[in-house]
Amino acid sequence: MKILMVCLGNICRSPLAEALLRKKVEHAGLNISVDSAGTASYHIGNPPDARTIANALKHGLDIRNLKARQFSSSDFERFDRIYAMDEDNRNMILKLAKNEQQGSKVRLLLAHHPYVDFTGVPDPYYGDESAFEEVYQLLDETTDYLMESIKNEE
Ligand code: 4NP
Repeated sequence: MKILMVCLGNICRSPLAEALLRKKVEHAGLNISVDSAGTASYHIGNPPDARTIANALKHGLDIRNLKARQFSSSDFERFDRIYAMDEDNRNMILKLAKNEQQGSKVRLLLAHHPYVDFTGVPDPYYGDESAFEEVYQLLDETTDYLMESIKNEE
């Protein structure tokens, strides 16, 4: 299975979601590949935001080697599941879907978290360090729930 995480810039939320899920998939020995992309083009080729890198390193996760890229319609062919970080990005992705089959691959990542009553991972870009820590905790929890659901499907 191939999973794609998508946010706006591909420098804060989705690279972290990618790295967290990849670590858990590898630990579980599952044959699942994970990637991430952004719906916007601003940061193509850039590493993750320095604040995301620092926060991830604090938790023992090194994401310095990741590079931002933009989501493209060919991702519908390359990935089985596309997880959007929020509704705006989900809607941007859905606009590029050619048919219902492609559209059905797109989901909100937070739909996997049973205990939050909001739909989007808050964008930490204009926030302070605590916003980045909040995103880390939320993505760590949600990727745990996602792993449970993946394991139940296998
Ligand atoms: P991300 O955060 O979508 O989680 O990567 C953002 C990164 C950059 C911008 C906005 C959000 N920006 O406006 O440049």
